[in-house]
Amino acid sequence: MQVKVTSADAARAAADLLALPVFELDPGRWRLPPRLARLDRSLGGRLVAAVGTGDFRGKAGETLTLYPDGALAARRVVLVGLGPEAKADAEALRRAAGSAVGAAAARRAQELAIAVPALRRLRPPASARALAEGAVLGAYRFDAFRQTDEDTPPPLRTVTLLHERAADVRAARRGAEVGVVVAESQNEARDLSNQPGNALPPAELARAAQRIARQSGLRCRVLGVEEMRRRGMQAILAVGGGSAHPPRLIVLEHGAARGRGARRGQPTLCLVGKGITFDSGGISIKPAAGMGDMKHDMSGAAAVIGALRAAALLRLPLHVVGVVGAAENMPSGTAYRPGDVVRTMSGKSIEIVNTDAEGRVLLADALHFARSEFEPDAMVDVATLTGACVVALGGWCSGLFGSDEALIERIRKAGEATAERVWPMPLWDEHRKHIRSRVGDLKNAGGREAGAATAAAFLSHFAEGTPWAHLDIAGTGWTEKPGAYQPAGATGVGVRLLVALLESWQKA
Ligand code: BES
Ligand code: MN
Ligand code: ZN
Repeated sequence: MQVKVTSADAARAAADLLALPVFELDPGRWRLPPRLARLDRSLGGRLVAAVGTGDFRGKAGETLTLYPDGALAARRVVLVGLGPEAKADAEALRRAAGSAVGAAAARRAQELAIAVPALRRLRPPASARALAEGAVLGAYRFDAFRQTDEDTPPPLRTVTLLHERAADVRAARRGAEVGVVVAESQNEARDLSNQPGNALPPAELARAAQRIARQSGLRCRVLGVEEMRRRGMQAILAVGGGSAHPPRLIVLEHGAARGRGARRGQPTLCLVGKGITFDSGGISIKPAAGMGDMKHDMSGAAAVIGALRAAALLRLPLHVVGVVGAAENMPSGTAYRPGDVVRTMSGKSIEIVNTDAEGRVLLADALHFARSEFEPDAMVDVATLTGACVVALGGWCSGLFGSDEALIERIRKAGEATAERVWPMPLWDEHRKHIRSRVGDLKNAGGREAGAATAAAFLSHFAEGTPWAHLDIAGTGWTEKPGAYQPAGATGVGVRLLVALLESWQKA
């Protein structure tokens, strides 16, 4: 799908579908905004008549289809509700674009035009970025394993953003380009996360990362079992030990810290992802109900890979490193067991009390590797880490933990700006002490109380002095409830947020 930006008159836009986003109308005393009033004159009053029925009030998520019957160049018009003007933000535009794309698919339209509304709080580039994101995300489908039939809508060919002022087009074009890159990167993350465990074992996840690296201009290095053994990564090896598909450590790199290509004073940022390609629980096996969802247990890895792709394609002036620990957690004769003591790359030992708390064990080595290899200025990990986080926060936001207030605040702001919300959670010395072990340095689970915080506390022992934050996306990595630009399945959550976080350094 292609996103174009022009300032053509909406009445003359030749599209299969022309979407007109409309702010919520005051019942009883509404008037169409000037641009729509002009279109209404071309339409012989059909807009006012339709709205006058009360069938459309501009509430978020509402749509109404009209047929201009030759009065406009477009074959169909769909009104798309934006909600109240006072509250309208980038997310309202993302959703409107997603609804417009959904309406286009339902009508088998392939050419969509969207009349860009003027928002008080958003400049044209930001509006274009949000609309492009919503359109590209809304057009996403995961159909790698399905044959096409007559119910499969044809792919959308173009989305044209119609700006009212010609002077806005240039700046808006750059915004739309950025939005397309970010949303396509998020769709890559969704694709990875939606792949079932049989299709995407650790070696295949590594191959996918290599392909994405090649296509976007990232460096990519993959460590196999031998190299991990040499480097003392017994924790990752233990987690992957039960599977016939051996683990991998994937390293993606954009920019350079030193040497050629490095800019002075440019920070090094490490993004670390949990890449459990399937989590059966291992010897501490999970119940059957819902176990299939654990194909998504590499959603953190997917977010990191997607964010690195975007960083490269946007040429962000930063040194960004992605580190993904990839393993499959399976029960078998070679699996790690409850009671085992595992030595990590950092030298700290872990007593395994539950093999289903595997993510933190794998991340122990991934975090230590990231610190020791790259000495980053900051480090953020993303992981579908705990069911406890889902209980605490549901699917409405990700859990945010960390050791550095400034970093936490940056992430919180990035979450608000991108509508990938996060909520700060406590991480105290008490949590850190709670997981001390009698036989090793740490144990990998602390019981039911504050399960998300004790998992974060475990990770903090491996972040040590590096400014670090942890995003628990167990509740947000995939969804059953479709949204305006989100089909059921993997969300690709974290990509928009991490890109905004990286951009916050670029601006600083
Ligand atoms: N991948 C799961 C966490 C998870 C659960 C994510 C549900 C999304 C939805 C993780 O590996 C896990 O199994 N965690 C255990 C930890 C416990 C054994 C301390 C959990 O949350 O039950
Ligand atoms: Mn688990
Ligand atoms: Zn897991």
